Amino acid sequence: MRNTINSMKMTIPGYSRNESLARMCAAAFVSQLDPTVEEISDIRAAVSEAVTNCIVHGYRDTIGDIDIRMKLLDDDTFYIKITDKGAGIADIEQAMQPMFTTSPDGERAGLGFAVMESFTDSLRVKSTPGKGTSVTMTKKLGRRERNGQTD
Ligand SMILES: Nc1ncnc2c1ncn2[C@@H]1O[C@H](COP(=O)(O)OP(=O)(O)OP(=O)(O)O)[C@@H](O)[C@H]1O
Ligand SMILES: [Mg+2]
Repeated sequence: MRNTINSMKMTIPGYSRNESLARMCAAAFVSQLDPTVEEISDIRAAVSEAVTNCIVHGYRDTIGDIDIRMKLLDDDTFYIKITDKGAGIADIEQAMQPMFTTSPDGERAGLGFAVMESFTDSLRVKSTPGKGTSVTMTKKLGRRERNGQTD
């Protein structure tokens, strides 16, 4: 059983500018584990895709709250759950297929879930149409000596 060594909750309105706020907060939170530049950049990319999806697909032309919970676990795992109370997803399996998008104007590539999957160790999506969506991701950071020792 893994213990939680630190945790954080934040709720932000789904303004598009809050996508960068969310990824900056995730990067700041995980910095306690002394991650590599690559690990931080993977986490920023995954969080960015999940939050963007809440904004553009979950809430579409409306503004609603995005709830973000983060944890650091004692085996150097970063955990994040990102929830919206927006439109929801009817067919999750289909939505997670690379290149699948419901964006009507061809502006989106349908690669957000593929990015989340490849930059993290686990990705779980739960959704109820009309009620909202939650995306949970974990990423185990490489074991390194802490306190500025070897990498
Ligand atoms: N939070 C969400 N609420 C409602 N629908 C969602 C949500 N997240 C994803 N979806 C649905 O899943 C589809 C696939 O998402 P994904 O992020 O992979 O691609 P995309 O957002 O369409 O394109 P891209 O991320 O490349 O800009 C979306 O087109 C949308 O239909
Ligand atoms: Mg997307």
